[in-house]
Amino acid sequence: MKVKLLVLGLLCVLMGIAVYDARGQINEGAQLPQPYLYGNILINRISEKNKVKPVTFSHWIHRVKHTCRVCHFELKFKFKVNTTEITEEANREGRFCGATGCHDGKTVFGHIKKEDCVKCHNGDISYGKEKFEELRKRLPPAKYGNGIDWTAAMAKGLIKPINILSIKPPPDLKMVKLMRFKGDWDVPLPSVIFSHKRHSEWLDCNNCHPELFPLPVDKKLAKESEEGAKEQGGKSPENGAGKQPAKEEEKGPDKGADKKADKKAPRKLESHLPEKNRMPAISRGESCGLCHLRVAFPINDCGHCHPGMTEY
Ligand code: HEC
Ligand code: HEC
Ligand code: HEC
Ligand code: HEC
Ligand code: HEC
Repeated sequence: MKVKLLVLGLLCVLMGIAVYDARGQINEGAQLPQPYLYGNILINRISEKNKVKPVTFSHWIHRVKHTCRVCHFELKFKFKVNTTEITEEANREGRFCGATGCHDGKTVFGHIKKEDCVKCHNGDISYGKEKFEELRKRLPPAKYGNGIDWTAAMAKGLIKPINILSIKPPPDLKMVKLMRFKGDWDVPLPSVIFSHKRHSEWLDCNNCHPELFPLPVDKKLAKESEEGAKEQGGKSPENGAGKQPAKEEEKGPDKGADKKADKKAPRKLESHLPEKNRMPAISRGESCGLCHLRVAFPINDCGHCHPGMTEY
């Protein structure tokens, strides 16, 4: 165990990942926030420019009631603060925060009454903090992030966030495959697990595909259309398009697939990241790090992705 710890410690130093105890530090020394602040943001793309205070937004408050899919797919909020073009007018028209079933003035406070403005425009990133302990006490614990094991909370039915506001996913679109990834290092290192089933409880396929993780068929299409352009009227892209998904379906959509795939040897993540060793990029917020640094459990929780790497 000690040798393993030493090797991993060395790896972390080499990779530029600094991992310390308790709440930990990561990413060029930036401290992980307090559990009640993890996933909290201040939205200030246009607020102060228009003489109102920045908008406070807490992921832990919202994800109890709604999945990521609802906001980041249906309502089109982007996965980076201050990049979505939210305006007060759009909110009042029923888009973004003001969507029906959200801050529409009926379900919860809306965008008309003067006394409600300050519930969002208060510039206080810890707004709502007093509700946190009560929530944390009733949900299964985790070591990092909010200190809440959100996967277990969902699996045990302790939270039942709404997954569909108005746009239904196609009923036959399922992916329950459990994947295993292994990085480039030759030292014995616990491989990474990735559960499509668990992620699909929170997210839409579109949140990850094709932009963040291009599928084999996307890459094949891109390559073929490139080649086709070169050869002038080469293979039509449709040729490849039909094949790959059909193959996936055979392995994919039944519940037993999780276990079957489990036994398969881990492979390399085929994502489009140019790096050979990807962990540093992931810990800078790319790939898995898009969510697993800010909202989902953070990178510090090595053992959650590399089961068995429990030393931290
Ligand atoms: C549910 C949360 C919420 C409530 C309630 C709310 N706003 Fe906003 N408002 C936002 C968000 C989010 C933005 C975009 C902020 C940004 O990007 O800086 C915004 C933007 C604004 C802007 C920036 C300029 C513009 O035209 O978009 C003004 C001004 C504004 N709100 C005024 C108000 C007033 C006045 C009230 C109360 C009558 C109010 N807001 C209530 C969330 C809210
Ligand atoms: C109620 C709506 C809502 C829900 C539910 C929600 N988000 Fe967000 N999220 C937002 C908004 C709004 C922003 C800010 C967007 C902007 O400013 O452009 C945001 C921003 C983010 C960011 C960027 C944070 C940063 O610091 O730049 C990430 C990552 C993220 N969300 C991931 C998630 C994940 C993962 C889930 C599900 C566990 C989730 N969100 C659930 C509304 C939501
Ligand atoms: C959110 C999931 C996640 C977490 C948390 C995580 N890793 Fe990884 N790690 C990955 C993925 C995915 C790969 C494989 C990338 C690939 O296939 O190229 C990987 C690969 C690696 C590798 C192999 C080298 C490489 O980059 O290919 C090392 C070493 C590693 N991780 C160490 C760690 C350590 C130490 C921690 C804790 C500080 C950690 N990881 C936390 C997802 C994670
Ligand atoms: C949280 C992100 C995420 C979500 C959500 C997600 N996937 Fe994936 N998916 C991945 C990753 C990561 C891979 C592996 C990509 C790679 O190897 O580069 C993958 C691979 C795949 C593959 C290729 C399988 C193989 O053996 O190579 C298919 C098909 C797929 N996903 C379909 C889906 C469908 C359908 C949904 C929605 C039900 C979905 N995915 C939701 C992350 C996601
Ligand atoms: C778009 C956002 C997003 C991306 C990208 C993403 N995840 Fe997750 N992941 C989540 C959310 C949300 C959860 C639920 C738990 C939480 O919020 O802490 C989760 C949970 C997990 C879990 C726990 C599931 C379980 O069975 O206990 C693992 C392991 C994991 N992710 C690994 C990965 C790996 C590896 C990658 C990259 C290949 C990745 N994730 C990419 C959002 C994401």
